Amino acid sequence: MSGNKTFYITTPIYYPSDKLHIGHSYTTVAADAMARFKKLTGYDVFFLTGTDEHGQKIQRIAQENGMSPKEYVDKIVEWIKDLWKTLDISYDDFIRTTEERHKKCVQQIFKQLYEQGDIYKGEYKGWYCTPCESFWTERQLKDGKCPDCGRDVEIIKEEAYFFKLSKYQDRILKYIQESDFIQPESRKNEMINFIKPGLEDLCVSRTSFDWGIEVPFDPEHVVYVWIDALSNYISALGYKSEDESKFKKYWPADVHLVGKEIVRFHTIIWPIMLMALGLPLPQKVFGHGWLILEGGKMSKSKGNVVDPKILVDRYGVDVIRYFLLREIPFGADGVFSNEALIQRINFDLANDLGNLVNRTLTMVEKYFDGIIPEPTTPEELDEALKQLALAVPARVEGYMDQLKFSDALSEIWKLVGRTNKYIDETMPWVLARDADKKDRLATVLYNLLESIRFIAVLIKPFMPNTPGKIFRQMGVADEKLGTWESIHTWGKLPSGIKIDKGDPIFPRVEMEKEKPQEKAPQQEKQQQDKDMISIEDFAKMDLRVARIIEAEKIEGSDKLLKLQLEVGNEKKQVVSGIAAHYTPQQLIGKKVIYIANLKPAKLFGVKSEGMILAASDKGDKKLSLLTIDRDLESGLKVT
Ligand code: MSP
Repeated sequence: MSGNKTFYITTPIYYPSDKLHIGHSYTTVAADAMARFKKLTGYDVFFLTGTDEHGQKIQRIAQENGMSPKEYVDKIVEWIKDLWKTLDISYDDFIRTTEERHKKCVQQIFKQLYEQGDIYKGEYKGWYCTPCESFWTERQLKDGKCPDCGRDVEIIKEEAYFFKLSKYQDRILKYIQESDFIQPESRKNEMINFIKPGLEDLCVSRTSFDWGIEVPFDPEHVVYVWIDALSNYISALGYKSEDESKFKKYWPADVHLVGKEIVRFHTIIWPIMLMALGLPLPQKVFGHGWLILEGGKMSKSKGNVVDPKILVDRYGVDVIRYFLLREIPFGADGVFSNEALIQRINFDLANDLGNLVNRTLTMVEKYFDGIIPEPTTPEELDEALKQLALAVPARVEGYMDQLKFSDALSEIWKLVGRTNKYIDETMPWVLARDADKKDRLATVLYNLLESIRFIAVLIKPFMPNTPGKIFRQMGVADEKLGTWESIHTWGKLPSGIKIDKGDPIFPRVEMEKEKPQEKAPQQEKQQQDKDMISIEDFAKMDLRVARIIEAEKIEGSDKLLKLQLEVGNEKKQVVSGIAAHYTPQQLIGKKVIYIANLKPAKLFGVKSEGMILAASDKGDKKLSLLTIDRDLESGLKVT
């Protein structure tokens, strides 16, 4: 690498609370296409992704799954890394917030901000949405619910550290107003309106759970997950470590790609943190839209997710990448549908590009024994094709610099369309009938192949596997013919090469045969086997009958109760999220089912030694404890 022009691009770091879906893959595929494009055009690129592993939500889910948070996230992170491999994501580093390098960096940032007076100790009282890990003021709630996700919020009161956002509000407002920091433009106005009424200082520590990074000088507190998470963009570069060379080389980031719902964190909290640390601000935060399925944004709790691994397995990675980047303008929301996907496959890929390659190679085989012929007889007609091919790279670059992936691809497809039109205009099959026209036929086929070479280079960042296939079929092995520079000049494709026409690169898909999200029978079976547990697995759970002997509310939480259980001769304490459904009095004396060998955890600072079982509907509107229908003494085993 030349080492002069650098380009640093990031994705958000994903919550490993569950497997990721096609919506998450969208951000990462876009970042990957951009990173590959910049590499192709000569930049020294650093592309970062990773996982955001702390916080109450992860701690709760892990507990529900009977695992420690670390065990739980390790498993999901493996799955996520495998997904990125499946999608050909070329990241340079994968940062996990549970890594020592990250934790140390966050602690030093927190300490510095405290020592210089930007973080101070106070008391927090307000509303908290656990799934979003967000604090809200009374005024911000929508009908008493979280304004982002619409779910219940809890009131929280505790001693906490605060970050003086208010001190920086004028500076950040001015910066946003006067720069192109936030894109697209519409999101910029949203943020300006958010800041204008004034920023409240941000609560940046928690004591109600312990799955987080300890505040170094006050270990009762853990650092608020967003302060922890945002720091990943510099901790991964070694900021405040012994080796800051990457930080010096790549910071500030050229672009943080984020979904529209987290623009606020990235354009207010993050730059203010950087201002307070005296660091340069990122060039750009791009807030892209959501992929939507019927029923709204994809989310596991709504059950409307599309599994990216299944899609890739069925249609191929380049097809999925093409679809994600082409179908929806990057800033806007867009609907993901199987019909639209199949249309793109059949029209853009199988018909326009796949057929172009296949038809051209078939003619080279038929008329020139599979040898790329020499272009000796140019005509006026060729100019239009040649001029367009030479103009497209700069246009693509222009769109990519604005993260307009869809426009960039449609520019490339204009060349695909123009090349197909060139076949219709020149009618090679007519030229082939006349022996005198052999040289002109050679020139036409050469031009077609050269144009296909241009297209193959242009699609590299979006579809990393297809160009290799095209080059192999064309018999081109020289890597120099695949560089960005090589498409600044028309005519670099050597003649005399033997082609190796294979199968069409994009087979058509029959719409009727494709039902959305249906798994192939074999896959279904494997999935079922995976989901099944053995009797030994079941036996690992120590389920017992337990009698509730005491119950009381936990101060500061309107969901949790602290229960004392009698389990045979033993007494156990558990914290249970059933306060909305049972009063403490209703519970005393009840016999319930208790998991005795769940790892202990702390909820709201209260020790919980296991869990009692309950059944509930989605959203926890109806809930019932599991109990026994004959009188048995407590301590007996459930088998
Ligand atoms: N952990 C935070 C980010 C911290 S960054 C310092 C987080 N994680 S997330 O896993 O919930 O979401 C990560 C990204 O995935 C977000 O940019 C989000 O917008 C994106 N998407 C999640 N669902 C999506 C769609 N359905 N469509 C498009 N993007 C989606 O937020």
